Amino acid sequence: MLVSAQEMLNKARDGKYAVGQFNINNLEWTKAVLLTAQENNSPVILGVSEGAGKYMCGYKTIVGMVNGMLEELNITVPVALHLDHGSYEGALKCIEAGFSSVMFDGSHYPIAENIEKTTELVNLTNSKGISLEAEVGSIGGEEDGVVGTGEVADAAECKQIADLGITMLAAGIGNIHGKYPENWKGLAFDALAAIKAATGDVPLVLHGGTGIPEEMIKKAISLGVAKINVNTECQLSFAEATRQYIEAGKDQQGKGFDPRKLLAPGFEAIKATVKEKMELFGSIGKA
Ligand code: G3H
Ligand code: ZN
Repeated sequence: MLVSAQEMLNKARDGKYAVGQFNINNLEWTKAVLLTAQENNSPVILGVSEGAGKYMCGYKTIVGMVNGMLEELNITVPVALHLDHGSYEGALKCIEAGFSSVMFDGSHYPIAENIEKTTELVNLTNSKGISLEAEVGSIGGEEDGVVGTGEVADAAECKQIADLGITMLAAGIGNIHGKYPENWKGLAFDALAAIKAATGDVPLVLHGGTGIPEEMIKKAISLGVAKINVNTECQLSFAEATRQYIEAGKDQQGKGFDPRKLLAPGFEAIKATVKEKMELFGSIGKA
């Protein structure tokens, strides 16, 4: 059964580790993430962007697929199905479809409007036992059409949003979606510490988890980050493994063109990446 992310994130915050959110794109992606979580006894959050939601034939299809897998694959670790960088309308649709968690990304609105819309969603999600992520500041780069300026979040604004009763808060702290540029200055730890001090117990979320050096991940967790989002890194490992398989000509032999064979190396590559991240985040054995 899908669960809200509330309990797993509170435990992570108290235990000084982070739960990974891994974005999914199709059946293979979803199965790879769920099996890796189960094999490693780790809680996990499946992230769905609005673009990926459309690609996978809509939120109801995704809920059906994920619930089917939880049962048929005997997944017993805590799993939350979460809308990633959702619009207000997208959040309503996911709640209606059966998601157990949603993000409302109101970071591009003036703070008063972000507060107003987030408040409405706090009331709705609370009444249904669904977890809610909000965002302040901005994540740099671009993810699935969501473009951010990379503006570091203001601690006082973070407090205003955190005090509304959200489950988790994403704050821009110099993090970027996609690959980090060579001249990246690193995470703004002073800002993170100030945000933690201002927001109290609310678990913090680190977006743009791809390619952040290990020591920065560990420091971010020590400063209150309890959820880390990873998307691009799974895409890169899937693409690389698939490319190698095709370039090696294996798809021409022994029925290598069978989609189940063609997608197998990429599937294993996603599993390896997810396991590596779970080890780094410290969530293994925490289910
Ligand atoms: O919302 C999802 C993420 O923040 C993932 O970022 O693609 O850089 O790993 P990433
Ligand atoms: Zn993100």
